Amino acid sequence: MRSLAFVVAFLLVGVSYGEPRKDYAGAQVLRATPENESQLHYLRGLLMKNVYDFWTEPGAVGRPVDILATAFQLPVLKKTLARLGLDFSVHIGNVGDLLKESRIAQERAEAHRQSSMDWNSYHRYDGIMAWLESLATEYPDLCSIEDVGTSYEGRTMKLFRLGSGPDTNPGIFVDGGLHAREWISPAVVTYIINELVRDRVIYSDLLSKVNFYVMPVINPDGYEYSFTDERLWRKTRSDTDSARGCKGVDGNRNWAFHWMEVGASDDPCSNLYAGPEAFSEVEMRVVRDQILRFKDNLKAYLTFHSYSQLLLYPWGYTSDLPEDWRDLDSLAQDAADALFRVHHKHYKVGSVTHVLYEAAGGSDDWAKGVAGVKYSYTLELRDKGHYGFVLPATEIIPSGEETFEGFMVVANFIRDHYS
Ligand code: ARG
Ligand code: ZN
Repeated sequence: MRSLAFVVAFLLVGVSYGEPRKDYAGAQVLRATPENESQLHYLRGLLMKNVYDFWTEPGAVGRPVDILATAFQLPVLKKTLARLGLDFSVHIGNVGDLLKESRIAQERAEAHRQSSMDWNSYHRYDGIMAWLESLATEYPDLCSIEDVGTSYEGRTMKLFRLGSGPDTNPGIFVDGGLHAREWISPAVVTYIINELVRDRVIYSDLLSKVNFYVMPVINPDGYEYSFTDERLWRKTRSDTDSARGCKGVDGNRNWAFHWMEVGASDDPCSNLYAGPEAFSEVEMRVVRDQILRFKDNLKAYLTFHSYSQLLLYPWGYTSDLPEDWRDLDSLAQDAADALFRVHHKHYKVGSVTHVLYEAAGGSDDWAKGVAGVKYSYTLELRDKGHYGFVLPATEIIPSGEETFEGFMVVANFIRDHYS
């Protein structure tokens, strides 16, 4: 009997690992904080072995790491951490329950939806695109929208442009949804668009002097997959030649600037898979081409991720800093201060490598290093791990409110210095 149960459990894990559905009943997120270099080194090795889903990555001694383990994996992970002398705490006690609750909340919100777009629940790709289309129809002097590409699975990718002045105005490029499971990212990007359009009279000066180029969901296939099949999916959905049938590439390891040098994996089953080559992913090529198209006027590039509450600037591929890092740092500090004033959420400011870890192939590094966009930032939105990626929809509006204030600091700065 026991051995039968064991075989069944083994089969389940065998089937669920990699592709497609995982069983999250009883899964936990553990938080472990490496206290010395050897513990850190071990965690980095564990990350690269690709057995566990690291929700945050080991970066430095003293910096906590969140690791998801299924019920089946938990005893081994706990034993491993204990053997290393690594202190850990159970950060999310039952990921399965959390996912269930959030699914119920999402379904309820969808059933009670009053209008096609709101910020009380998370929205599907088609809904977001339809809403952008409707803005462009309603405010043709302020907004426009354009089909700029097609995702791997055939979804149309759109560029939304906002601004009433000439194309020669300084520009800010904004994207979201690179990582599928980070749902708060498209939600906040659309929140920002909505504020600017709704209060276009208040912001008319800004809108006449700065152009905004926005793509709220740049990994549409992964984003949809995270609604339909696997809430915690991160990557794109392209086929790889993996023998185990693993799909998808980490879009934020796929950009052609010091590609694959550090912090990325060549294993198609890894969540950090950099792809068979730089820009293997059509979605990243589409965004690249839009950035290149406007690069002469682009002064800022903002890419929205979650979670951890950070405002990061290059470089990600090296611990060296760009020579103008003080400019990027001081603007980010001002943005973080403005953000803090709204709901007292602390955002840490620093270079990717100093605050997080070395990881090459990110869009932020490419935007600065190749396209020459000076103010290039990655924002890691709420929260700090209490819900992690499964952030309740009730936090969309407060996240939007505070992020908008930080965003406005950057936008006004670009207007004041470049227009
Ligand atoms: N959490 C993000 C990621 O791992 C951070 C990206 C920061 N930028 C970078 N170039 N690594 O993709
Ligand atoms: Zn991300």
